[in-house]
Amino acid sequence: MEVKPLKDLVDQLMRKNQRNVDGNFYTIPAETTYPHQWFWDSCFHSIIYTKLGQVDNAKNEIFSLLKKQHKNGLIPHIIYWDKNRGDFPEIDWGREDTSTITQPPMIAYVVWEIYMQDRDKKFLRAVYRSLERYYGYILEDRDPEKSGLVSIVNPDESGEDNSPRFDRLMQLNPQQTLDENFQKRLFFVKSFKESHFNMKKALAEFDVKDVPFNTILLENVRILAKIAKEIGEKDDAVFYEGRAEFLALSMRKYMFEDGLFLSVSGKTQEKILTKTWALFIPLFAKLYTKQEAEIVIRTFLLREKEFNNRKYFLPTVSFEDDSYNPTSLWRGPIWMNVNWFIYKGLLKYRKINEAKRIRNSTFSLISQSGFREYYHPETGKGLGAKNFTWGGLILDMYY
Ligand code: GLC
Repeated sequence: MEVKPLKDLVDQLMRKNQRNVDGNFYTIPAETTYPHQWFWDSCFHSIIYTKLGQVDNAKNEIFSLLKKQHKNGLIPHIIYWDKNRGDFPEIDWGREDTSTITQPPMIAYVVWEIYMQDRDKKFLRAVYRSLERYYGYILEDRDPEKSGLVSIVNPDESGEDNSPRFDRLMQLNPQQTLDENFQKRLFFVKSFKESHFNMKKALAEFDVKDVPFNTILLENVRILAKIAKEIGEKDDAVFYEGRAEFLALSMRKYMFEDGLFLSVSGKTQEKILTKTWALFIPLFAKLYTKQEAEIVIRTFLLREKEFNNRKYFLPTVSFEDDSYNPTSLWRGPIWMNVNWFIYKGLLKYRKINEAKRIRNSTFSLISQSGFREYYHPETGKGLGAKNFTWGGLILDMYY
């Protein structure tokens, strides 16, 4: 497939999933199952719009997200613009219009990508205070122990709903059903609501300092510093540079062991040993040294039986792990945003051939099975929702 038709296909996909409710523009992840606005999805959608040269769509998608920012700074992971709830399960979050938890904090990264298109400082200024409130909330409220690492209070905040990284804390065995997993997550939602969103109580029930969330935060706080500098907020820029450095040091102090960054849980920072794609995301924020990166790539990413079956990249869980299941959401299948993160990470280390393998695999999956929510890592079969928007990130692997 040539590049032009690919751009056209992505453009069609975006148009299909665009919505405008009372002047609020957003893009749904997919018509079936996901008919609302999701936080990190919207960040990916905005990246896709910049690649299509549709900068206004990218900005409007971000403005819609910020309109529903909570008073404490949190940007919710779901916004229900449309009263018609569609087929997404009804969940009692404790408020009507949005959820009460967040998702990986990708918004500063995207704001910068948008700014790179048109150098519109007015846009940066228009969103800056909201970004400050959001990252302030994440850095402060989610780190009550001041360890430097931030916690998620529900697996859904990782964006990887049923990832096996959370099994032990949820007291679920590796062969759990989707419903068992969902019921546990609902329990956390309910008790968070009943405690009136008390962070201490929430963290007593579920407290994970997750590698992807903290890595994404790190890269985004660095970018927030760049944004501050660009609009002349010099003191803020120095402050965020310092925060980013502290986060990077804390990740090395608490999460790094035998050459790998591992998520940790609870006050004791107990390491979570499950082998998932989270081993590779530190590449995205250049957390591994060059030598460490070489080893992680060789020993895990490219090792057959671990994450390489010579056909499709990148399974979300190692083929060797007890929890590996090729058809269950985040327990093995390939996801396009994961491929995008690792592609970007590999480029930072100039691992061009490896990055191309990820990109080519992403391209084959889309050519073979269309834009799907996730893909079977052994057969490449498309699974989950159809016309799922993240696949458009492929454009950001070509330009
Ligand atoms: C699923 C994914 C989550 C995503 C949501 C909407 O729940 O696990 O990451 O944000 O769908 O696409």
